[in-house]
Amino acid sequence: MHSTNDSATFWENHYAGTDAQWGTKPNVVLTELLADLAPEPGTALDLGCGHGGDALWLAAQGWQVTAVDVSRTALDRVDAGAAATGVADRVRTERHDLAATFPRGTYTLVTATYFHTPVAIPRERVLRLAAEAVAPGGLLVVVEHASVAPWSWQAGQDIRFPTPAEVIASLELTGDWHVERGEAPQRTATGPGGRTAMVTDTIVAVRRAG
Ligand SMILES: C[S@@+](CC[C@H](N)C(=O)[O-])C[C@H]1O[C@@H](n2cnc3c(N)ncnc32)[C@H](O)[C@@H]1O
Repeated sequence: MHSTNDSATFWENHYAGTDAQWGTKPNVVLTELLADLAPEPGTALDLGCGHGGDALWLAAQGWQVTAVDVSRTALDRVDAGAAATGVADRVRTERHDLAATFPRGTYTLVTATYFHTPVAIPRERVLRLAAEAVAPGGLLVVVEHASVAPWSWQAGQDIRFPTPAEVIASLELTGDWHVERGEAPQRTATGPGGRTAMVTDTIVAVRRAG
């Protein structure tokens, strides 16, 4: 395991060696979920945005997006993608090591999609801050792996992923919230080189009362 201070180094190295086009498409789990749960755009905070597939898609749907990552390289690519697709006025990138600092403000949508890292970080605390950043009537969406794809950096490791109920409990929600989703469906995922495999995701969506 890496120390907390290694987040920027690890992810800079990761993105330096990653095709800039990888991860520029939105997560299908998120797009399907939002069609049901948040069809009208508002303000969105994308935590661990990577190359910005979700952030750029949200902006194209009319959302005003704050896209956050620890990697400057990833954020520069998000900025470039926003400029190239004509949504630069709806995407603001902010660099944070979320183990140390968190964006200000509240948002009608806060997302953390596949916010996994081999570096030791207080992940549950970050997700609790994510819940606190949800505005009244707004939605927190957490989508994460519940199985390991064969092309993952976690492949071959014996990992016990938290269940949806455990993820919801770890948020320690205070006040009035409605659980919109708490499930672990399977889907066919496409990895590098077009390789496919069945994977399981954990999907949690909770809405703060308006
Ligand atoms: C597995 S990737 C997922 C990227 C994107 N959300 C997606 O679904 O394709 C995890 C992302 O979290 C970011 N990340 C990891 N640790 C972080 C930290 N401590 N603070 C901010 N971002 C972090 C990484 O740089 C990476 O972009």
